[in-house]
Parts: sequence; C-alpha cells; structure tokens
Amino acid sequence: MAKGKKTLFFCQNCGYESPKWLGQCPGCREWNSFVEETVSATAKGKTTASGSTTGKKNEPVILADISIQENDRIKTEIEELDRVLGGGIVPGSMVLVGGDPGIGKSTLLLQVCRQLTGKGHKVLYVSGEESLGQIKLRAKRIGEFNENLLLLCETNLENIRSVIEKVKPEMVVIDSIQTMYNEEVSSAPGSVSQVRESTGVLMQIAKGMGISVFIVGHVTKDGSVAGPRVLEHMVDTVLYFEGDRQVIYRILRGVKNRFGSTNEIGVFEMREKGLMEVKNPSQVMLNGRPTDASGTAVVCSVEGTRPILIEIQALVTRTNFGLPRRTSVGIDYNRVNLLMAVLEKRAGLHLGDCDAYVNLAGGMKLGEPAIDLGVVLAIVSSYKNQVIDERILIFGEVGLSGEVRGVSMAESRVREAEKLGFTSCIMPKANVESLQGKYEIKLIGVANIKEAMNCI
Ligand code: TYD
Ligand code: MG
Repeated sequence: MAKGKKTLFFCQNCGYESPKWLGQCPGCREWNSFVEETVSATAKGKTTASGSTTGKKNEPVILADISIQENDRIKTEIEELDRVLGGGIVPGSMVLVGGDPGIGKSTLLLQVCRQLTGKGHKVLYVSGEESLGQIKLRAKRIGEFNENLLLLCETNLENIRSVIEKVKPEMVVIDSIQTMYNEEVSSAPGSVSQVRESTGVLMQIAKGMGISVFIVGHVTKDGSVAGPRVLEHMVDTVLYFEGDRQVIYRILRGVKNRFGSTNEIGVFEMREKGLMEVKNPSQVMLNGRPTDASGTAVVCSVEGTRPILIEIQALVTRTNFGLPRRTSVGIDYNRVNLLMAVLEKRAGLHLGDCDAYVNLAGGMKLGEPAIDLGVVLAIVSSYKNQVIDERILIFGEVGLSGEVRGVSMAESRVREAEKLGFTSCIMPKANVESLQGKYEIKLIGVANIKEAMNCI
C-alpha cells in the first residue's frame, strides 16, 4: 500500500471509525454496519466550519459587535420553500436536500436556480449524475433560463472548487453528494469517508466564501440520507422531500434548521412543467371527499405555523379470522391501536373482533396528537355506520382515560375551518372558553370521547 494511506473501518450508519472491524458499533449500537475504507492520512480532520484551515487565525469577537441583517436572506420567491427554510436562503449556509430517487429533487433545485438567476443572482449547478443534455431537457420543461445560470458536469471536488473560485457564484447546487469525490481520499465515491470529506470541502467553500450551497443526498431504504449521520450534523439545514411517486403531491419537510423552525412543511404538486406550489393545501386535501359516507372525518393538523385540514377515513368491519387485522396509512400504527384500545375500554365499543383500516387522504403523513379525536370519531362513525356531517371539523388530543385534552394553536385551526366554510368544530373544552363569541362557527367543547360521540 502507498505511503500515507491506511485503511479504517467506518460505521455506515453514524460514521464511527475504528481501526478494527467490529460487529456492533459502539456509537449507535447498529450491528454489521462496519465497512473497510482506505483513507489518506493527510485528509483527516482538516475541515472546520469557519474555514480556518487556510492558515489564517480567527480572533474572538464580541457578540454585540457582530452585525447581521435579516433582509440578507435571499428569497427564492417559491413561498413554500422560503417558509421551510425559515424565510429564504441564508448566504453562506449549507442545505442538504434528501429524498427518494425520482421524487423531484433535481427539478426543485433547478426551479430555485431559475428564480434566483431571474433576479440577477449568479448560480452554478454542478451535476455528477446527468449530462448537460439531460439537464437542458429538464430545463426546457420548466421554462426559460437566462445567462446567470452556469452548468458544470464534474465530480472531482478540486476542479469544482477552482471553478467556483473563478466564477464566484452566489449559490452552488451539488447534485448529488454521493457522486462527488475528493482525490485525497482514496475510497470510492458514495462511501462514508468520501461523502464526509466532500461535504467538508464544500462547507469550507460555503463558509469561507459566503456562498450558499445546496447539496442533494440520496436516501437509503430506511429513509435517512445515505452516508453517515455526520452529514446531517455538518450542514445547517436538512430538508426531506417526501411523497409517493404515484401521488402528485410532494411534501418538503424541514428536519433540521439552524436558521428557523423545523416544523414547517411545503406542499408541491408535480406537473408537466415542474413543481407547482400548493398554496391552500387544505382545499386540495379535501377535494373530492365523499359527502354522505360513514367513517370519514375532517381533522386539522398544524404543521409549523400553518393549519392544514385533512380527511381521515376509517373502515371498521367484523373480522373473518381469529386475529383482527389493523392497518394505518399516514398515521402512526401504534397510535391507532392505542386509540382503539381507549375506545374499547372507555366507550364500551367492541372493537376486539373487528378489522380496522385507517387512512389519511392525499398521501400526507401526520404525527400531531391533535388529530386523535378525529381518528376516534372516524372509527366510531364507521363502526356505527353513522355519517358525520361534512361541515364539522374535529380536533383534540385523546388521553388514555378517554379525556379530550386541549391543543396548541386552537384559534388558527378554528379560523382555517371558518375560512373553508365549516359550520361547527368539535374541539377540547379547555380550548373553547378563550374563543367563545369570537367566531361565527359553532364551537362544541367536549371533555371526553363519550361527549364527543354524542355530538355526531
Ligand atoms: P427529478 O427531479 O429528476 O428527481 P430526483 O432528482 O429527485 O431523482 O424528477 C424526476 C421525476 O419528476 C420524473 O419521474 C419526471 C417528473 N417530472 C415531471 O413530472 N414534470 C416535470 O416537469 C419534470 C422536470 C419532471
Ligand atoms: Mg436528480
């Protein structure tokens, strides 16, 4: 082996390194995750967030002396994206966009490029996956681009760095990090050490030159960005692009954000001409819902700062087998089981010999406890074959003793319901008092699930 080269074992899950192969990773307790990779002795440990490897020493500064301007953020004018980013792109920040293949990551970033170049910003799009011709084809579907967008097909990071130094763009897109390689690291592109070192180099560029860098990362089968978790630690913002390829709606979710809230989501629709923003997701999600069918309820979930109304469907049937089947789509399976147990014990419903299927319409995934009451009432409605009026909105958290607990941001939920023409709200009693009389919509406060069941 060449001098200065050695091999190390890396955990593919968390990036833990060890000189020996280990069966279980001491860092993340994952089994069989170690892979041998060659690293050069010089490449290790040279990256820092401040880009101080250039030999220049950084001096401490008084906090009050640091000036920032909030309007420094570059707005992409794609509102759904700006909100997830916390109000626009922060110069010098690094954003990782993860998602399944074919979900629309390259399309989204190309659209961002189009917006920014349209406003006179200089952008460099580096592709290691597609040829210039392929990018051109995609760009043609999206629209017109001006001369501020520069394209580069390159995977060698040193070459990319010199191009960046030459053209001095304001934003760089790297599509994707798994195809990039750093000559100083001898393992293959896509390997843990290669991905980590490449990200390190890009971070130096981002922080050192004040360029915003968007990197595309592929996800593994279990849904995390391929390569080590350290990748997520290194960047400033991690966004996931989720959704079914069969469903046209795509959801951009902030998982980590050093410059804003991580609860925000952006909703897009994949059309022939690229991704379109969905500005009123509630209306879209409620489109085409059955009006006089049992087992459907409309709930309100607040994602970040925005309430989204969505339909929950439940189908409860007598089981033909000894063991009842239960499935849930878009909602946590264990939560559904728990709510069914609460219904059985506290409301006396005999669900033990029933199959139950619970489904969130529109391919959305929700985890907010405020949808509990809606799930409960949808199940009750299907079980009793009793239709819930289509103009009723339901929200509230359900506890183990069947009580309905108050939720946060009740007012914005009520307001959204009123805006969309709902006539009444079944909601936690605790939330009703502060809102009574302020809205035309009828507010029905309930303290437990039995009271709620009497309202439908
Ligand atoms: P792409 O951005 O290449 O996905 P990723 O980079 O995440 O792998 O998107 C690919 C899919 O999007 C592909 O199946 C075609 C579809 N698409 C449209 O439906 N309309 C369009 O205008 C574009 C550009 C792509
Ligand atoms: Mg792509």
